[in-house]
Amino acid sequence: GLEALRGLNSGRLRLTVASTANYFATDLLAAFTRRQPGVTFQLEVTNREGVIRRIQDNEMDLAVMGRPPEGLDVAAEAFMPNPLVIIAAPDHPLADGSPIPLERLQDELFVLREQGSGTRNAVQRVLEERGMNLRGGLEMSSNEAIKQSVQAGLGLGVVSIHTVALELELGRLRVLNVEGFPLERQWYLVHRSGKRLSPAAEAFRQFILDEAHRHWQVPETPGVAPPQEPPLQA
Ligand code: PGA
Repeated sequence: GLEALRGLNSGRLRLTVASTANYFATDLLAAFTRRQPGVTFQLEVTNREGVIRRIQDNEMDLAVMGRPPEGLDVAAEAFMPNPLVIIAAPDHPLADGSPIPLERLQDELFVLREQGSGTRNAVQRVLEERGMNLRGGLEMSSNEAIKQSVQAGLGLGVVSIHTVALELELGRLRVLNVEGFPLERQWYLVHRSGKRLSPAAEAFRQFILDEAHRHWQVPETPGVAPPQEPPLQA
């Protein structure tokens, strides 16, 4: 609670966030900093594989990622939904809102994230369960590049809804009504189990768990439930 935030006037926090979490992480840092102006941050943005490497190296205080790492001794706390959606340009033939069977996607070209991306892993797991594969002709290592390519009509994309809030508001991208999507995931705050958190890190952890869901900035989308209060725990 709020007691943890009192009397904390300095400290440096090293945060590593998955590239997809960057779309809300800075807003949370700003809100936290308004209360704790003495705390400064070092923010590293990388993909899932990079976040796992940082946890292994013990090179950071807290990480934000889409699924806790396997085979590592970590504490992982879910704090906000992370729905994955399939996006298309507004004039795409599939973008009229009618239901699309998952199998239908095999005929479409996809712009996919790079190997090592948690988004990509999640999509692949869903497809493998159905014995499917996507035609990933295009591979890009950033959400921005994927958004631009999908808007330009290069193919469909699979992204966290946090990355496209603005484009959905502006009508530059559409969420497709695909069977099994939005894919329900959560954001996790992660640190090594044995690690003693600094007062600054502990204050930030409390802040995220108590308040991150209030910073939800996702436009209303069919199948996407806004976060619950209190947030679901893993
Ligand atoms: P990423 O996101 O695709 O940017 O690695 C992490 C995740 O959603 O697991």
